[in-house]
Formats: sequence, structure tokens, C-alpha cells
Amino acid sequence: MGNPNRAKAEKGLMRWIDDRFPATQMWEDHLSKYYAPKNFNFWYFFGSLALLVLVNQIITGIWLTMSYNPSAEGAFASMEYIMRDVEYGWLLRYMHTTGASAFFVVIYLHMLRGMMYGSYQKPRELIWIFGMCLYLALMAEAFMGYMLPWGQMSYWGAQVIISLFAAIPLIGPDLAQWVRGDYLISGITLNRFFALHVVALPIVILGLVVLHIIALHEVGSNNPDGVEIKDNLDENGVPKDGIPFHPYYTVKDLVGVAVFLFVFAIVVFYFPEMGGFFIEHPNFIPADPLTTPDHIAPVWYFTPFYAILRAITFSLFGLEAEFLGVVFMGAAIAILFVLPWLDRSPVRSIRYKGWMSKLALILFCISFVVLGVLGALPSTPIRTVVAQICTAIYFLYFILMPFYTRIEKCKTPPERVTG
Ligand code: HEM
Repeated sequence: MGNPNRAKAEKGLMRWIDDRFPATQMWEDHLSKYYAPKNFNFWYFFGSLALLVLVNQIITGIWLTMSYNPSAEGAFASMEYIMRDVEYGWLLRYMHTTGASAFFVVIYLHMLRGMMYGSYQKPRELIWIFGMCLYLALMAEAFMGYMLPWGQMSYWGAQVIISLFAAIPLIGPDLAQWVRGDYLISGITLNRFFALHVVALPIVILGLVVLHIIALHEVGSNNPDGVEIKDNLDENGVPKDGIPFHPYYTVKDLVGVAVFLFVFAIVVFYFPEMGGFFIEHPNFIPADPLTTPDHIAPVWYFTPFYAILRAITFSLFGLEAEFLGVVFMGAAIAILFVLPWLDRSPVRSIRYKGWMSKLALILFCISFVVLGVLGALPSTPIRTVVAQICTAIYFLYFILMPFYTRIEKCKTPPERVTG
């Protein structure tokens, strides 16, 4: 039994706040009266997990910043200091580096879910577009963060990526110099990357997450059947196949959080460098502009695009191979933005699409993973050919989509969600 006086005081306080700020309204709109489809499955854990990882990155990032020194002279030593002398500094750092990789694991699965269930289709195009902007911002954030420890890979990885700008005809070399802020990568570059990593991009990412969720809540969530639950309302205007997000999905998402944290903790405590995949070995050597590491490869989440870049070994339409590689790499990301307009299928979910869409998605996933593996390895002639084949599959998945989604025979989706 609650205390009646306390309950009355709480009610009074809530009324006082609600008269000045729509707290109850927001709670209802986004949680207790936000009706989500009742058939969410495993794949629907990754949105909330992305939010969890974002919070982890922000909190551990703030604490790392307290002991980090953003200068070419002091950055590497300050990382050693964090790892050895700062109380629990090693834990903060490993949570942040593992968090960066976890972010991409979660985001890639989150994007795959969207692709499987056609969550980008009308009326959810903007959710997808904001998501893609988030993906771009996360890539920029991760790239700049990787430079901060000022190890060999920080330096040479940045060198490779920034010199990509120099491949652009006419303006390239000036643009690369403008990005670096110097004739070569230096403390000036480190300072600006630090500012962008700890202030500018986190603000952009947080803003985009808000836009992403507002767009989602405006139209409502899709689900594994791709059936619109708003088409079947009860007498109160509530979707028959919907359940309030809170408490049902807040509690269900906690299961995902528990499993995720379990795996996350195992990695943080036992495999923080993941055999060189999460923190590459050359990054434990201070940056040295005079010694190039034997093999420069980006962190695993960039390797599919790096493999596409290296797969372009030929000139085309008078464009040099180097620049063409940059164009293909950019196009590989850009094409994802227009996905909502490439899919002409009458149904959303892969469950009801025809065999061509299913095969295309499987081939796309295989080629993406193979590209990821190839991008992490030094290139050989045979690997280049495999990367070229996978690059072709990657692009054909999108380019042919307007055709195969229109001509294939789909199953009729159910009226109401199943399961
Ligand atoms: C910081 C990064 C991101 C965060 C925090 C985030 C968060 C969320 C959350 C909480 C949801 C609702 C829960 C769910 O459906 O899983 C959601 C839905 C969605 N997100 Fe993201 N997201 C992020 C990045 C992305 C990216 C990169 C894409 C794709 C390019 C994307 C596409 C979508 C789509 C299409 C939906 C609706 C799914 C549906 O209703 O079936 N998101 N996101």
C-alpha cells in the first residue's frame, strides 16, 4: 500500500510540471501510448542497443577526455598514462574502443533488419535517410577517434584516407591540404580531429538520433511481416496488433541489453584488442612520419569499402584508376541513400518477396562480408579479382533492384501480423 499523502504530492508535482512542460504528454506519445507491432523479433533489439552503445561512448568518451592530451607531443604518452596510471583508465579506454566496434556490429545488423523487412519503404523513407546520415556521421566519428591515440595506424590510416581527397581532379591536392590544415598530417590535424570527435560530431549524431526517432514515431514501426498495423484499428483507434511500447518493449529490450552486456563484458575483459581487429597492433607504436607500417588497413568496419577502393585497378571514361576507386567507394555508400526508391516491390518484408529478392539479398550479404575480409588483407592479384566480382555483386544488387522487385512473383502478405 502506497502512502496516500505521498501519492497526492506526486500527482500535484506532476500537474505543476505538466502545466509548464508536456512531460506526461511526451511519456504517453513516445512510450506508454506508443503502439508498436506485437510481433517484433530478435532483429528489433538493435535499435535500442544502438542507443545503449551511444550512451556508453558518450560517457566513457567524456572521462577519457579528462586525461587525454590532444597534441602531437603528448597524445601517445597520455594514452599510456590512461592505461597505466589513471584509476580504471584501462577500463574506460577498452569500453570506448570495444564500444566503437560494437556500434558498427549493432548498426550493420540494424541496417540489415531494415533491408530484410523493407522498413525503408513508403512512408518510412525519412527514417532510412536519417539513419544513413547517422551511418555517415558514425563513420566520420570513428575515423577521427582512431587518429587520437597518435599511434602508427592512427597516423598512416589517416594519411591513406586523407590522401584520397588528393585524387580528386583539379581541387584534390588543395582540398587534402585544407582537411589536414598542414602540408602533412601534424598536430594541427590532430587538434581539429579532436575538436570534431569530441564536440561537433557527437552533437550532430545526437541531433540525428532525435530526428530518426521522431520520424519513426510519426509513422509508426514496421515489423517482420511488413504489415501496416495502423490499417486495423479497434473502436478506440488503437491498432489491434499493437502493444504499448512501455512496459512491453522496454522490458523485452532489457533482455537484449542483458545479453549484449554479457558479450560486451567478455570482450572488454578478455579480448579488448580482438587480435588486432578492434585495436590494430601497430597502434601501440608511437606515430612516426618517417616509417610506414608494412601493411596499412583500416579497422574492420571500414574494410568492405576499402576493398572496393582497391578493387578499381583500371581507368574508365578517361578517369584515373585512383580517382575512380574513390568514386566507387563513395557510390557504394551513396547508393544506400536511394534504396527506398529502388525497391519497387508491392510487398515490404522479405518473407513475402519472391526468390529473386531473397537470392539478391543473400548474395549482397556474402559479397559485403567477403569484401570486408579482403579489405583487411594485403592485396594479391587473385584477391583483387575476387574483390572486383564482389564489388560488381554489391552494385548489381541495387542497380537491378527496380527490375527484379517488379517482375518477381510475391506471396500475398496476411491482413494482420502473424506470430
Ligand atoms: C546511432 C545510430 C542509430 C540509432 C541510435 C538508431 C536507433 C533506432 C531505434 C531506437 C529504432 C526503433 C527500434 C527498432 O526498430 O529497432 C530505430 C528504427 C529504425 N532505424 Fe535506426 N538507429 C540508428 C542508425 C540507423 C541506421 C544507420 C539506419 C539505416 C541506414 C537506420 C534505420 C532504421 C529504420 C529503417 C528503422 C525503422 C525500423 C522498423 O520500423 O522496422 N537506423 N532506430
